[in-house]
Amino acid sequence: RQNERESLYIILNFAKNFFQEQLNATEEGQAIGLSYLKERGFNDTIRKKFELGYSPDVWDALTQAAIAKGYNADLLEKAGLLIRREGSNSGGYDRFRGRVIFPIHNVAGKVIAFGARILKTDPNAKGHQPKYLNSPETDVYHKSDVLYGIYQAKNTIRQLDVCYLVEGYTDVVSLHQAGIENVVASSGTSLTVEQIRLIGRFTPNVTILYDGDPAGIKAALRGLDLVLEEGLNVSIVTFPNGEDPDSYVQRVGAEAFKKHLQSAARDFITFKTQTLLEDAGDDPFRKAAVITDVVGSIVKIPDAIKRQIFFRRTAEMMRVDEQMLITEGNKILRKEK
Ligand code: CTP
Ligand code: MN
Ligand code: MN
Ligand code: MN
Ligand code: MN
Repeated sequence: RQNERESLYIILNFAKNFFQEQLNATEEGQAIGLSYLKERGFNDTIRKKFELGYSPDVWDALTQAAIAKGYNADLLEKAGLLIRREGSNSGGYDRFRGRVIFPIHNVAGKVIAFGARILKTDPNAKGHQPKYLNSPETDVYHKSDVLYGIYQAKNTIRQLDVCYLVEGYTDVVSLHQAGIENVVASSGTSLTVEQIRLIGRFTPNVTILYDGDPAGIKAALRGLDLVLEEGLNVSIVTFPNGEDPDSYVQRVGAEAFKKHLQSAARDFITFKTQTLLEDAGDDPFRKAAVITDVVGSIVKIPDAIKRQIFFRRTAEMMRVDEQMLITEGNKILRKEK
């Protein structure tokens, strides 16, 4: 078992080096991959820090290179790098072709998987090409346990005692380039308890920076009860519609971005209350539903003092009696038992 995992780390590291070499030292990599990354505003330093790469637009470039070095096809397949042709022993094709590669590291810094971005969508291409392709689950990669960027961020998270949580690979990379290094990405999925506990190893404070679109806001409202339940303190910063942390920091620059983080941060309960209240308008029934929803989040907070503070603050925002909210909270707790 241990040996098998070691072999996977070794082949994944080989692949990472191969992809980096393709990006930096081949004509195709430079003309296509490197120019794409430059256009997106990523500099040399940041590309090296995140070990970004390029997978050539060839069926089996990585596989050929690995086999020439004595690695076998089974290992490539187990690492999620090779897709076998049906019924074939040796034949197959590389999972990642013609894409920019984002290696995914574990907390210790070992490469365990890859995210791979398509360069441009060819309108004539047959079939749908997803924007990102990711490694499948393997013996060393369990998607639900992993946060992109945790290895590069962990020391700063501990030092500054707060973790920024973004949606995407490029958000993490862009914020590092802007000097904001305490940032990790959930990679587009809803948060899991394992991911929350991973953050909790370094800080109890999380600030969510999700994309400024309805999907991002919904994602921020969903799933976050889980974070409260784990005892973490959650704040939210929103961005103008259509922007994400990457596009926003590239547009306004590092200093303005940091100012936005300071001025726009709201604790999660306040954010949820305000967002839902705006939607509900003057409709008393919808307002009642908002109360139930927000109180449902407050009762997830394990710390009694914090709960008390949020009951008071929410009562003020909703212009209702605090005691009524507490009673409502007790009702919800009884029902859930
Ligand atoms: N994602 C994915 N597969 C997709 C689309 C998205 O795995 N087909 C994940 C990726 O981890 C991505 C994250 O969800 O980084 C957020 O998605 P999105 O906001 O659409 O992409 P961005 O990170 O903003 O990427 P880009 O700026 O390159 O468009
Ligand atoms: Mn798992
Ligand atoms: Mn998005
Ligand atoms: Mn983006
Ligand atoms: Mn995005």
